[in-house]
Amino acid sequence: MAQEESLLAPRVSSDDGSSIPNEEEEYALLTGERTAAENKRRVWPSWREIGVFSWAIIATILVIVLAVLYPHKSVEPQPHHGSNTTWGPGGKPTGKRNMIFMVSDGMGPTSLSLTRSFRQYTHDLPFDDILVLDKHYIGTSRTRSSSSLVTDSAAGATAFSCGRKSYNSAISVLPDHSPCGTVLEAAALAGYKTGLVVTTRLTDATPACFAAHANLRNYEDLIAAQEVGEHPLGRVVDLMLGGGRCHFLPKSQAGSCRGDDHDLIKVASQNGFDYINDRAGFDSLKGGDNATLPLLGLFAHGDIPYEIDRRTQNETYPSLEEMTRTALKALSKATEDSEQGFFVLIEGSRIDHAGHGNDPAAQVHEVLAYDRAFAAALEFLENDSTPGVIVSTSDHETGGLAAARQLHKSYPEYLWLPSVLDKASHSGEYLAARLKEYNSGPGKDAKDSTKQSWIRQNLLKDGLGIEDATDKEVDSLLHPDPQVTSAYVFADMISRRAQVGWSTHGHSGVDVNIYVSSSKDAWPLVGNNENTDVGNFLADYLDLNVENVTKLLQDTKSGALKSYDWMGDRLGLNVHTDGLDTYHGDFRKRSADDCGCGAAH
Ligand SMILES: *[C@@H]1O[C@H](CO)[C@@H](O)[C@H](O)[C@H]1NC(C)=O
Ligand SMILES: *[C@@H]1O[C@H](CO)[C@@H](O)[C@H](O)[C@H]1NC(C)=O
Ligand SMILES: *[C@@H]1O[C@H](CO)[C@@H](O)[C@H](O)[C@H]1NC(C)=O
Ligand SMILES: *[C@@H]1O[C@H](CO)[C@@H](O)[C@H](O)[C@H]1NC(C)=O
Ligand SMILES: *[C@@H]1O[C@H](CO)[C@@H](O)[C@H](O)[C@H]1NC(C)=O
Ligand SMILES: [Zn+2]
Repeated sequence: MAQEESLLAPRVSSDDGSSIPNEEEEYALLTGERTAAENKRRVWPSWREIGVFSWAIIATILVIVLAVLYPHKSVEPQPHHGSNTTWGPGGKPTGKRNMIFMVSDGMGPTSLSLTRSFRQYTHDLPFDDILVLDKHYIGTSRTRSSSSLVTDSAAGATAFSCGRKSYNSAISVLPDHSPCGTVLEAAALAGYKTGLVVTTRLTDATPACFAAHANLRNYEDLIAAQEVGEHPLGRVVDLMLGGGRCHFLPKSQAGSCRGDDHDLIKVASQNGFDYINDRAGFDSLKGGDNATLPLLGLFAHGDIPYEIDRRTQNETYPSLEEMTRTALKALSKATEDSEQGFFVLIEGSRIDHAGHGNDPAAQVHEVLAYDRAFAAALEFLENDSTPGVIVSTSDHETGGLAAARQLHKSYPEYLWLPSVLDKASHSGEYLAARLKEYNSGPGKDAKDSTKQSWIRQNLLKDGLGIEDATDKEVDSLLHPDPQVTSAYVFADMISRRAQVGWSTHGHSGVDVNIYVSSSKDAWPLVGNNENTDVGNFLADYLDLNVENVTKLLQDTKSGALKSYDWMGDRLGLNVHTDGLDTYHGDFRKRSADDCGCGAAH
């Protein structure tokens, strides 16, 4: 680049022989305005000027010819499907290789600061003792969707799975409601083994985007069916570990949340899946040594509990780290004698939920659990004979988290207090469930004063380590405002005392971090990227072409409207798919009965 500039615009040296232009010239270079000296010039050019002019023309022609003959590396972001030109110094491994893609849903930069300091505080570590993730930071990802500057997890994961921007709520569907091929589907078609490991429902937006296509993320029944093989390309996933069992059970069966009587456990078994649904089943996998693919492991009705609560229910639910180790071992064993490796998505799904709940104690434990899973994946990669890469990023930030909070009108203090988070032994979500049980059980006919002391002792003191609750706070738990769930009240009590701030119960538009096992292998992701660049990298690394899969999916139009019926109703014009909204006075308008309460993630 420097070479080209000097050819195109040869600089006339200053009188003193230095090539540094004087202040006036520098101003002219920056603004494009003429200098006084230039304005004073004679009308007729000197031979010297004609010489310089001709040289400039020849140089320009030379540059153009060179540019045509030698395709150069542009600074513009380019789609690089399977191309090798943008790869970094280490090159890309050829031959068999694995891609471990990790998503920390809703984890923004502040989540890391908070968790790092929390860990230092609780383990009495020095200030330079950092998270495993911190040591693998290489860049950032810009997260907007096609329909908003603030994305949801569906559009966020579509950018990763298809490498394309789409609208909030789209499950690997483009703004025109056509399906886009995903890296997992392309991997499956190319002979790779594939997996999904999550702590939320396997039918939730992030995992769904890799193995299903739906016009709306809440078509979870349809998503579940596609995941077990009722998919235009047949079964594309070999291993699924996570929650969301209720969407796979027929309506008539206890524990179902399906709208119909479709038995997806039966469908899964017809399609060859081994099915496990509890800790005992998980333990029988022997860390992956005893796993046979395809494998479906559904360990919770809905979400697996937050790590802060799961710790005390370890005999019921496996951790993200355990699931990660088991999945990697199982996939590695299953591809032992194969020419292709595997693609796996591993998601720390509930960092996002803790953000929605504005619950900092729950969040730091979620991030620590994710950090342990990342470390486990690194350990796997280091030991494994097949080369591979781990890419870890977030789809967006959640909560507008701030590592400071002004509590009073007077000048704010410069601090936040991890010790407050350390005293909490449970999440707001968990304590809200205990309160509900109490209210419909032993507390049903109790006096307010009895209830108050029960709440103070059993929930606030034992659950959160809070002994200075105000009567007003306790009252907001006893007589809750319908728009403020008790989970929110518990989380707010912790946040205020820890002086941790939140700006929303939803997502925010800040850039999120990218971490990789080695920047040598993930060179194209160094620096600030679009989230779609991350998606393109996943496919490029495995030499997959998602557009080829898109073409296959585009042959699946059916019905009178020649639409993709199998992706569910488009919901007409209610879904805004492209272009940003504008201001229409919303700061004052708020429908009183419109709680939301963290419904959309
Ligand atoms: C990519 O480029 C490197 C370095 O030029 C080369 O060794 C390698 O064979 C190329 N790989 C592919 C898949 O073309
Ligand atoms: C290995 O898995 C099979 C099911 O695939 C199970 O029957 C068996 O008990 C497992 N072995 C151990 C040692 O848990
Ligand atoms: C959780 O349970 C598993 C399986 O029983 C065990 O291997 C693990 O050590 C336990 N973890 C903790 C923290 O107790
Ligand atoms: C990696 O290798 C070390 C040393 O041999 C071993 O202790 C560890 O269990 C291995 N980890 C995995 C995930 O295979
Ligand atoms: C994609 O399709 C094109 C045209 O059919 C084919 O040449 C190419 O090999 C395919 N790429 C992959 C990675 O499958
Ligand atoms: Zn969310």
